[in-house]
Amino acid sequence: MKLLLLILIISCQECLTKKKSSKYEHSVRYHIFTLDKNQTIDLVHNIDVNISGICNPKTRSDYKLITHGFAETWNMTFRWNWVQEMIEEMLKSNQAKSLCIIAVDWAELAKGAKLTMNYWKAIENMKVTAEIMSIYSDKMKMNEKKFHCIGFSLGAHMCSIFYKTYFEMYKRKPFRITGLDPAGPFFSSKNTSEKLHHTDADLVDIIHTSDNFGLDEKNGHMDFYPDLGDINACNEVKQRFDNLENVILYEETTTNKKGVEYKEIQLNNLTEIDTLSVENLKKKLNSLFCKVKDFFSNKPKRVFISLHQFFGCSHLMSVRYFIYSINKCDYKSHMCNKKQDFEMKKCLDNSNSYDFARMGYHTERSNNKYLTSYGNFYLNTTNKPPYCDPSQNYKPGFFRSLWNKIIG
Ligand SMILES: *[C@@H]1O[C@H](CO)[C@@H](O)[C@H](O)[C@H]1NC(C)=O
Ligand SMILES: *[C@@H]1O[C@H](CO)[C@@H](O)[C@H](O)[C@H]1NC(C)=O
Ligand SMILES: *[C@@H]1O[C@H](CO)[C@@H](O)[C@H](O)[C@H]1NC(C)=O
Ligand SMILES: *[C@@H]1O[C@H](CO)[C@@H](O)[C@H](O)[C@H]1NC(C)=O
Ligand SMILES: *[C@@H]1O[C@H](CO)[C@@H](O)[C@H](O)[C@H]1NC(C)=O
Ligand SMILES: *[C@@H]1O[C@H](CO)[C@@H](O)[C@H](O)[C@H]1NC(C)=O
Repeated sequence: MKLLLLILIISCQECLTKKKSSKYEHSVRYHIFTLDKNQTIDLVHNIDVNISGICNPKTRSDYKLITHGFAETWNMTFRWNWVQEMIEEMLKSNQAKSLCIIAVDWAELAKGAKLTMNYWKAIENMKVTAEIMSIYSDKMKMNEKKFHCIGFSLGAHMCSIFYKTYFEMYKRKPFRITGLDPAGPFFSSKNTSEKLHHTDADLVDIIHTSDNFGLDEKNGHMDFYPDLGDINACNEVKQRFDNLENVILYEETTTNKKGVEYKEIQLNNLTEIDTLSVENLKKKLNSLFCKVKDFFSNKPKRVFISLHQFFGCSHLMSVRYFIYSINKCDYKSHMCNKKQDFEMKKCLDNSNSYDFARMGYHTERSNNKYLTSYGNFYLNTTNKPPYCDPSQNYKPGFFRSLWNKIIG
């Protein structure tokens, strides 16, 4: 009798541990897009689903991994759904047939907390996300030399931690990372082993657009500074904020079964709502840290996101440039020692060749002397989509077939 009990206890313990099928609490999903098939794979619960079923390694092996940032998702409804727009632009490109586009969905981890948001926890969560992605990549024998991870804000560091982790585990370095205005707050003081750095990949190209949200550091093989960091397209938005007119913020008021309701906040009435004067608000907005913390104590989410969209105008411009670089703009750039040289037009000019330095999707087609330069690259953009001057622009793809013939 006692023995039977003992056996029962042992076997039940076994069944209990077996039930806990995964050591990961949250899921990471790949939403995969190709020209003719789309599919979602849950890397934690369905790790055996073979990506080859949708992306044949022989024909569709250019992996474009798109990673969203802090408190974002791959399918945002609360603000600009840039991941979707990027996917659609890629699917319209000349190379669409060879693409395996993956919207990396680490939303639960990137939020950092269940009900609110926690930036620090989200940073911490990058490690476990990276581990899940690395294990999956290796298990499915995905060719890391075909990886191009495109990350916005915290997503840029997510790409970095993914590649670092993958290298630690398998001693193979993936091909490319494009950092779209990598997140700045808390990263400038971090060791290069904890943030985006040129040692992460064969090619690390970075588009710097914001000094509030972005990391004002040169860490890539090629660092791009459109409009010398003062983004033309955002000037109008900035002016509007300076007048404090047309600025609409929303506060979450009630949450009931029907959902969340929002109340418009008049900026000139903020004192009563957030115990912040407008002057205070402006001051605090200079640092993301204060902003998140202040609003945390007072139903922060939507308020934060509205602010992010508004003050993050230049932050998100890095994403817009990247999307337009796929099919519409080449964003020809000039390698300069310092920005004063660009203003005085004293930079290396490359107008006579098609392998000029370019910002965005096609950066890897720049001449090798730029790719390995660790240089700074400057360019002017315009204030309306597609943010390039057509007279200064070779439409991507136009010269490509010719150029490919020349370079074999
Ligand atoms: C796959 O998703 C893309 C992007 O959302 C969409 O344009 C396309 O129609 C979808 N294709 C299929 C076969 O569902
Ligand atoms: C976004 O994606 C998540 C995870 O795949 C899903 O649960 C959610 O329903 C989607 N939201 C919308 C609005 O489609
Ligand atoms: C996935 O599919 C490919 C090609 O069909 C195969 O070579 C590979 O072994 C598969 N991987 C796993 C883990 O099943
Ligand atoms: C950064 O981290 C690496 C590896 O963990 C370590 O060897 C190095 O000393 C650190 N550098 C600094 C400046 O802390
Ligand atoms: C400011 O807010 C208070 C309380 O929320 C409200 O009673 C008042 O009418 C508002 N004033 C303006 C100018 O909107
Ligand atoms: C870029 O714009 C700045 C400011 O408008 C101007 O001074 C500079 O000459 C422009 N540079 C080039 C290369 O067109």
